[in-house]
Amino acid sequence: MLSLMLGGMAGCAATSASHRAEAAGAAPSTETPTDTADLPSLYTRLGGLPAITLVVEGLLERAFSDERINYTWAGSALPRVRTRLIEFICVATGGDCIYTGRDMERAHRHLTITGEQFDVLVQHLISTLEAARVPAREQGELLALLGPLKDAIVRRELP
Ligand code: HEM
Repeated sequence: MLSLMLGGMAGCAATSASHRAEAAGAAPSTETPTDTADLPSLYTRLGGLPAITLVVEGLLERAFSDERINYTWAGSALPRVRTRLIEFICVATGGDCIYTGRDMERAHRHLTITGEQFDVLVQHLISTLEAARVPAREQGELLALLGPLKDAIVRRELP
């Protein structure tokens, strides 16, 4: 279900962008464009809030099944974490949402998350996006937005 919905949504966005290019007189191209300036926002290309909600649910399902990281959520109000993660990704990708949570450093500093644990979550995100058949370009854009948060999220070495 997740895969059908997301694959379909992202596919639609890519198809309509290429139709627009053809209508404007450009030669149809089989190459993946590297310039995203003329494309809809990443939020739109992913499929908007319904698709982002499914990605977050898929990611949390994988994370909660992984003993390397799942204990970090033991004391958390899970519906709140889910909602805030959806809001966060919505805003980060250009959606019209309001993020109501803490900044990344404040939200994670009590958890002493390691760099390895951060990478585990990123791998689960990649697996979720793959399973949902999100195209490589959109996967890369999302990872490029979230990857730089590593410094704020992993445990700071104490002086
Ligand atoms: C790019 C990566 C990440 C993003 C974008 C992200 C985003 C978020 C957001 C938006 C919240 C809610 C903040 C709030 O309630 O104010 C949150 C909470 C949380 N995150 Fe992350 N997170 C990331 C990585 C991680 C990693 C790697 C782990 C653990 C291995 C983790 C564990 C948690 C936990 C346990 C909470 C709940 C904290 C609490 O209840 O106080 N996060 N995260």
